[in-house]
Amino acid sequence: MAVDVVIIGMGYVGLPLAREAALRGLSVVGLDANPDVVAGLNAGRSHVDDLHDSDIAEMHEHGFRATSDADVIADADATVICVPTPLAEGGLPDLGPVNAAAASIAAYLHPGMLVVLESTTYPGTTDDVLRPMLEAGGLVAGEDFHLAFSPERIDPGNATYGVRNTPKVVGGHTPKCGARAVEFYERFIDTVVQTKGTREAETAKLLENTYRHINIALVNEMSRFCHDLGIDLWDVINAADSKPFGFQAFYPGPGVGGHCIPIDPNYLSYNVRARLGYPFRFVELAQEINATAPHYVVQRAQDLLNDRGMPMRGATVLLLGVTYKADIADQRESPAHPVAKHLYDHGAHVQFHDPNVETWRFQGHDLNRVADLDAALADADLTILLQNHREYDLASISRGARLLFDTRGVTEDGANVERL
Ligand SMILES: NC(=O)c1ccc[n+]([C@@H]2O[C@H](COP(=O)([O-])OP(=O)(O)OC[C@H]3O[C@@H](n4cnc5c(N)ncnc54)[C@H](O)[C@@H]3O)[C@@H](O)[C@H]2O)c1
Repeated sequence: MAVDVVIIGMGYVGLPLAREAALRGLSVVGLDANPDVVAGLNAGRSHVDDLHDSDIAEMHEHGFRATSDADVIADADATVICVPTPLAEGGLPDLGPVNAAAASIAAYLHPGMLVVLESTTYPGTTDDVLRPMLEAGGLVAGEDFHLAFSPERIDPGNATYGVRNTPKVVGGHTPKCGARAVEFYERFIDTVVQTKGTREAETAKLLENTYRHINIALVNEMSRFCHDLGIDLWDVINAADSKPFGFQAFYPGPGVGGHCIPIDPNYLSYNVRARLGYPFRFVELAQEINATAPHYVVQRAQDLLNDRGMPMRGATVLLLGVTYKADIADQRESPAHPVAKHLYDHGAHVQFHDPNVETWRFQGHDLNRVADLDAALADADLTILLQNHREYDLASISRGARLLFDTRGVTEDGANVERL
């Protein structure tokens, strides 16, 4: 039976995309290499933050199913690749999952098919890495099948912008490939923006993430000297943010996390260095500043304890929020890991609380979240707020903590409260 689209990779990106397409009437199959993911989805269970089991049930009502058998591609009009693009040892891009997905498609590629890469990657991946693999069987991109790149912009936890109402950037290997991809996405996404080619679409995604990375680094660096100068940076940012044009507010924090911000800009700087021989200095500087943010947080924590005559060695430190951003459960690249590591290295007893995380795997051990938040606040020598999850009652946390270090600037100043 013909399938409108096979989406490869049923994770944070592929699953919400599959849902939107299925709900708009496309026949959708999710292909995933992990049998547990496939079994879970077919049993109606969601494993990503923004989708509930009821959403998966609704997808099934619209004909969705998941599989690990790549032969489903043989019947597909289109296939979209949403597999991970991690960093390998030494910070180099690891295209292993993309290559594996390409091999699955190549085995079943047929004339007229549309292939879209959505995984974030460096410019040239679609045309120079994916295309030769797909063309190895004799079909030619732009003539026999269509090839395009379309960056995923999903923002986990964002209640306003989802797959359908976030404009979708699309770039084709040829203008005809681009037009075919636009036609496909317009079936279930409100606004589609076409670029000249695949490289422009690939680079647009990297520009977006690099822009965030650099601006977060800017305020993270400012937070250090503003603290030393006795200037409240949060107040500074609020004031600057009253300007209705030419300024966008970014806020300091304990470091950057997730699958995108700490990783994607490296793809761009790697590519510039490898192909042109010179550095992309903004990215490298931002990397350096954001990577040292967790250490800076621990230094400030140590100063806070010291001011009260307490050494960090032996102190009980409670971390609130160990995910990489607020209101989600995803812990990938979370700054809570290096913060906890530095605290351990200084001899602190680390505890954690997070409404979205039951057990937190740290240094080979599963830490259980504290059972009673109020009791843990009263017991800890220092509490560090790392993520401001919506479940947190900030007034009650400020009142209950013996000493609170707020790395998100969301609590009122007080005798027992210090903000980053
Ligand atoms: N998570 C985000 O917020 C986000 C946002 C924008 C872009 N992206 C990008 O989207 C891509 C996917 O990220 P994600 O967060 O969805 O990853 P994920 O780890 O949540 O999901 C990826 C899924 O792909 C599956 N997979 C891996 N290799 C496969 C293969 N060869 N065949 C079939 N399935 C395979 C895995 O089993 C997993 O279920 C990455 O390039 C990422 O940078 C992610």
